[in-house]
Amino acid sequence: MKGRIYNFNPGPAALPQSVLEDVKKDLLNYKGEGLSVMEMSHRSKTFDDIIKDTEQLMKDIMGIPAGYKVLFFQGGATLQFAAIPLNLLGENQFADYINTGSWSKKAIQEAQKLGKNINEIASSGDSNFSYIPKDFQINPDAAYLHITSNNTIFGTQWDEYPNTGSVPMICDMSSDINCRKIDVAKFALIYAGAQKNMGPSGVTIVIIREDLLDKSPENIPTMTSYKIIGGKDSLYNTPPTFGIYIIKLVLEWIKNMGGLEKLEEVNNKKAQLLYDAIDSSAFYRGTVRKDSRSIMNITFRLPSEELEKKFIAVSLENGMIGLKGHRSVGGIRASIYNAVPLKAVETLVKFMDKFEKENS
Ligand SMILES: Cc1ncc(COP(=O)(O)O)c(C=O)c1O
Repeated sequence: MKGRIYNFNPGPAALPQSVLEDVKKDLLNYKGEGLSVMEMSHRSKTFDDIIKDTEQLMKDIMGIPAGYKVLFFQGGATLQFAAIPLNLLGENQFADYINTGSWSKKAIQEAQKLGKNINEIASSGDSNFSYIPKDFQINPDAAYLHITSNNTIFGTQWDEYPNTGSVPMICDMSSDINCRKIDVAKFALIYAGAQKNMGPSGVTIVIIREDLLDKSPENIPTMTSYKIIGGKDSLYNTPPTFGIYIIKLVLEWIKNMGGLEKLEEVNNKKAQLLYDAIDSSAFYRGTVRKDSRSIMNITFRLPSEELEKKFIAVSLENGMIGLKGHRSVGGIRASIYNAVPLKAVETLVKFMDKFEKENS
């Protein structure tokens, strides 16, 4: 569409254009009701249908088995860093964490701040978080294992999730939820801020095995309690109604696209195009070990920081936004979430080739 830019932002990030068009169409008058979803009571039948449909679509699309609940929180994935140990880590217990950089580190620090006993069983910190550790021992007595599925900043992603036996696995999927088909039954809890692959900022999705709901202690803040929020089907207080409605539209878009199998195919193709461009060049340098490369956030460097600055400025002039690496690591990062079309990646790859020729 004229005037729209190719959006490689890491989050909040690109949304499918057809979803934005649906939002626009419904904005003033949702299904002839004479008001916007934003203006509607969260106790109304209409909103109740929206939230129920959203949960059902999540279950259908992800293949979530019976015995799990899909909940909607505010407070970002960051609130879950605290909510998880508050709910699931008792006083005399400990939890295992695998540290794949920034986001895992924040999850660990938040738990420690609450006085919780955390065991960092593996870390890729020895190599600036450029890989996913494969060599670790999960303690069979751990209350849970926490991993970060995709590190948005470093551009690493778990390819195969570990087998944790009887230890519940908890996963931060903020930056790769619904980028591919996964076996949800492997996880006790999955959480994700919506603003990368699922919708706008302001909603966090928590997929939780129902037996865990009973573990929440009575003395934790209400808004962190899985038992309370789960017991009220995310309607204990006013949920982020408009964000949930947009997630529903994104899920319908995924379904119409052919589901996660189809999306995974397209995502792999997009990532491969970019990695091929990096690997076939002496100018661009990938920052992640090949077996740990993310298909969502592709990180690379140029020969100098000056050239990286120029690359970001000239790419913007050429209709591409969001390619600057995270401020903590620098370099370039192309976030190619579900809603970033193949055309955008093809355009970026062409641009990279031209930029290399003009600047090497
Ligand atoms: C993997 C991951 N976890 C957690 C967060 C924090 O999310 P939020 O800003 O929703 O708290 C982010 C944000 O980018 C992230 O990429």
